[in-house]
Amino acid sequence: MKKIIIIGATSGIGKELAKKFSSHDYEVGITGRRTNLLEELAAKLPTKTYISTMDIKDTKSAIYSFKKLINEMGNLDILIINAGIGHINPSLNWSQEKETIDTNVSGFTAMAGAAMHYFIQKGSGHMVGISSIASIRGDNAGPAYSASKAFMSNYLEGLRKKVAKEKLTITITDIQPGFVDTAMAKGDGLFWVASPQKAAKQIYKVIQQKKKKAYITKRWAIIAWLLKIIPDIIYDKI
Ligand SMILES: NC(=O)c1ccc[n+]([C@@H]2O[C@H](COP(=O)([O-])OP(=O)(O)OC[C@H]3O[C@@H](n4cnc5c(N)ncnc54)[C@H](OP(=O)(O)O)[C@@H]3O)[C@@H](O)[C@H]2O)c1
Repeated sequence: MKKIIIIGATSGIGKELAKKFSSHDYEVGITGRRTNLLEELAAKLPTKTYISTMDIKDTKSAIYSFKKLINEMGNLDILIINAGIGHINPSLNWSQEKETIDTNVSGFTAMAGAAMHYFIQKGSGHMVGISSIASIRGDNAGPAYSASKAFMSNYLEGLRKKVAKEKLTITITDIQPGFVDTAMAKGDGLFWVASPQKAAKQIYKVIQQKKKKAYITKRWAIIAWLLKIIPDIIYDKI
């Protein structure tokens, strides 16, 4: 039986991914800070489920808990680093910017590094990061969020190159969602908002296909393309 760990599975996209993989016979390791939600979810999943409460901002302790979870599960085939936060922070409040960096940059990197060490030693594995379409351009309302997601996507690209150059049998996938209807989707002017179920369904397929990158939902590829080509003089005004 294949085994997957989802970092950040208490709500939203991560929770739906746990349900999706479990319904496809995967044993699932679920993590997050809210133990009660992890227990509730574990009780509903049809396959064997392992719980680990962790705060990825506390990188030392999170790396320890992650390794312990792999030991308990006995094996790991796929890791999804989904945990993330985002603040609408036009006043550039430092504690909010710091929390975003600590979670989406330091926490993400700690988990990615620990997983790479494990997969390299094992000789195979698949690492998936849930970044964002926001990684493509800087955002005025949440500059730390868009910058943190740019870091994440760039880091995943670096790992993909490392894997190719060193001929490692490890797959790296960068998932870039547009808007998904979760606690994180804040603010006005949201459009093309997907349900977390639809997002999880498409992410599941992308992982099975071992793609290197995907926009969720698929039509967000159009927005990604526009964001990449739009000149600064226009981008700064919209
Ligand atoms: N929703 C969107 O429109 C959208 C768009 C693009 C990208 N994304 C990305 O999708 C991912 C999932 O977000 P979501 O939309 O599903 O929002 P969500 O429902 O708020 O889920 C966030 C998950 O991350 C976990 N998490 C947050 N901080 C953590 C920490 N310090 N340590 C451990 N776990 C932590 C949360 O668990 P606990 O709170 O229990 O710790 C929760 O399970 C995020 O990385 C987000 O950036 C979302």
